[in-house]
Amino acid sequence: MSPYAHITGWGMAVPERVLTNHELATMVDTSDEWIRTRTGICERRIASEDQTTASLATEAALRALAVAGLNPADVELIIVSTSSPEHTFPATACIVQDRIGATKAGAFDLLAACTGFIYALNMAAQSIRSGSVKNALVIGAETLSRLVNWQDRNTCILFGDGAGAFVLQAGEERSGVLSSVLRSDGSGSDLLTLPAGGSALPASLETVRDGLHYIHMNGREVFRFATRVMTQATLEAVARANLSMDDIQLIIPHQANQRIIEMAARSLNFPMERCVMNLDRYGNTSTASIPIATCEAAQQGRLHPGDKVVFVGFGSGLTWGAVVAEWSAPFSAQRREYPTRYRLYARVRSALLRLLRRLDTLIDALVWDRRQRD
Ligand code: ACO
Repeated sequence: MSPYAHITGWGMAVPERVLTNHELATMVDTSDEWIRTRTGICERRIASEDQTTASLATEAALRALAVAGLNPADVELIIVSTSSPEHTFPATACIVQDRIGATKAGAFDLLAACTGFIYALNMAAQSIRSGSVKNALVIGAETLSRLVNWQDRNTCILFGDGAGAFVLQAGEERSGVLSSVLRSDGSGSDLLTLPAGGSALPASLETVRDGLHYIHMNGREVFRFATRVMTQATLEAVARANLSMDDIQLIIPHQANQRIIEMAARSLNFPMERCVMNLDRYGNTSTASIPIATCEAAQQGRLHPGDKVVFVGFGSGLTWGAVVAEWSAPFSAQRREYPTRYRLYARVRSALLRLLRRLDTLIDALVWDRRQRD
């Protein structure tokens, strides 16, 4: 029988710096009242200069591994879903792999904007279901504050930085990820986009002058699309898991706008008290919002083994999707902390590998030179 992908670890990392609506109102023509009533956001976290998508992802990953009691060396797959990667390449996932010392892991980035975590969760779960890996790390991480035009009140009020991670492990019992629905509609790709910096419009002085390296969004259209697909995807994923909405204890939605979530809950006839919300404190952290909200729900004791949960999201692409999961406990009762000593070990290992690579190149060059002379 195919193993199931149990969620056995969870962790989050958010920057310390809080940017309130009041502070934003001193930067652009907006107000705390407008932002709160239109979006539900009161404040968001902003990465410090030394924090990046990879550093937040690394913190979240180590915390998730600690909850699972799993050694990084036992992780076989790392997926980082992000729209604000460290670079176009190499993948942010490879940087995380190196920093946590996951010596046996394949690692790649996945881009499905705010739906990224749903996509990544499904990909990792299918790798476990197929038997090709036993332990996987799924991370959603963003530093969208670096891609936002702080003069554009249509977008800068929405986004925040952060990361969240799940550990998935193979288990025989029917639990963990039970079903998923992934959808896309590229005909709406112009509704939410970062136009420059890719092969279609490489970065240049002109693109920077025209602000094309910032997020551009048609908020009204994204709003209309979101309210439609959240309900559809939830119902479809629940039906695929052979469940009904009455079996669902909690919905953990992408935290984009309180009104979108309220409308979806209303049309699903699902009580808002059972929708996890933390949008007021973090804003829209894109692909990180679902795992961050999950971590907080777990910390608040709102998740119990056996609970059926819907994770549902939407975003640029357009993309949307939902995953139904049964909440599992960590396999190991022992929490394993990854102290400074452990991080130091990963760093020393990385430095030694770089040094070895240089020595290898040097030796190769010397041998080649010798052969040429002979
Ligand atoms: N402060 C004050 N006024 C504002 C602001 C602001 N920050 N932003 C817009 N306004 C003004 C507009 O200029 C407009 O004025 P006008 O009527 O004189 O033209 C008025 O407020 C209404 O603007 P709308 O765009 O219609 O406002 P709306 O109620 O739709 O709210 C919002 C805008 C919050 C962006 C909403 O449309 C929304 O949340 N959309 C979904 C966005 C979203 O979820 N994006 C993330 C997707 S996930 C991903 O992939 C990253």
